[in-house]
Amino acid sequence: DGPAVGVDIGGTKVAAGVVDGDGRVVAHVRRETPTKSPQAVEDVIAEVVEELSARHEIVSVGIGAAGFVDADRATVLFAPHLAWRHEPLREAVEKRVRARLGRRVGRRTLVENDANAAAWGEYRFGAGRGESRLVCVTMGTGIGGAIVNSGRVQRGRYGLAGEFGHMIVVPGGHRCECGNRGCWEQYASGNALVREARELARADSPVAHGLLERAGGDPEAITGPLVTAAARAGDAAAVELFEDVGRWLGIGIANLAAALDPGTVVVGGGVSDAGELLLGPAREAFRRTLTGRGFRPELTIVRAELGPSAGLVGAADLSRGWG
Ligand code: BGC
Ligand code: NA
Ligand code: ZN
Repeated sequence: DGPAVGVDIGGTKVAAGVVDGDGRVVAHVRRETPTKSPQAVEDVIAEVVEELSARHEIVSVGIGAAGFVDADRATVLFAPHLAWRHEPLREAVEKRVRARLGRRVGRRTLVENDANAAAWGEYRFGAGRGESRLVCVTMGTGIGGAIVNSGRVQRGRYGLAGEFGHMIVVPGGHRCECGNRGCWEQYASGNALVREARELARADSPVAHGLLERAGGDPEAITGPLVTAAARAGDAAAVELFEDVGRWLGIGIANLAAALDPGTVVVGGGVSDAGELLLGPAREAFRRTLTGRGFRPELTIVRAELGPSAGLVGAADLSRGWG
């Protein structure tokens, strides 16, 4: 099939590209996610669709959005990290694209949960290839989740399956953007990593001096990539922060094993850039937590392969009418 546009809307970045039938990204654009206003984001999506469709004969458009996407695959019902409530995203984008180009682009536009899109990308072209019972966990601003069984994304009755990030792992724990307390993503996401790193730095503990130095002395300037770089360079506090986040990741995956029994769990998102610094502790905690351990087969935890393009690759591919 021909090239499709994929757009991945995260809490901080909009990544878009033209993706060919083999999952290759043949054109790429990137923008900041403008503000929290859905309209401003829709303007940016229409802009990148226009830009990307100028030099390619586009067959369809797939949009991965960081939120609860209705079974209609057109409406974002709710998004913890974006101000979207019952937002008719597909209609809004199609309208804007028609207004800009005087025509529609491709035969359809599809909205998909960002983690479902990324999981589909990994299933088709990445670390999930050939796995009949696949679960994906993406660790970015929050935790995204997805289930792909026998080559189909499992969307549940209302389109909302796979919201693993909001399983409560610590009753009464940290407040989550979804409104609850103690959600898994408050312990095993990029936000969690940065919150803990900043807290450590603010406490002015000598163990945090390496992190603080990298941040120019300002705890608030600590970012996820900064902690990753520090951990890679062997900074003990940064390594420990990844051990903590990795432990929570492993415990959550053990819960997913209890519920879903997948063969492979692919871990993606920005936090997974840390590789074994994250996955080592995750595997260890998983093995110590898995119910029935020692008497049952164990799933494999692997790192995603498509990096930051997973979401846009998967969204584009899904829009062709697959999965
Ligand atoms: C949202 C999900 C999203 C994930 C990753 C979570 O907080 O509830 O819909 O997939 O963050 O962006
Ligand atoms: Na999902
Ligand atoms: Zn939550």
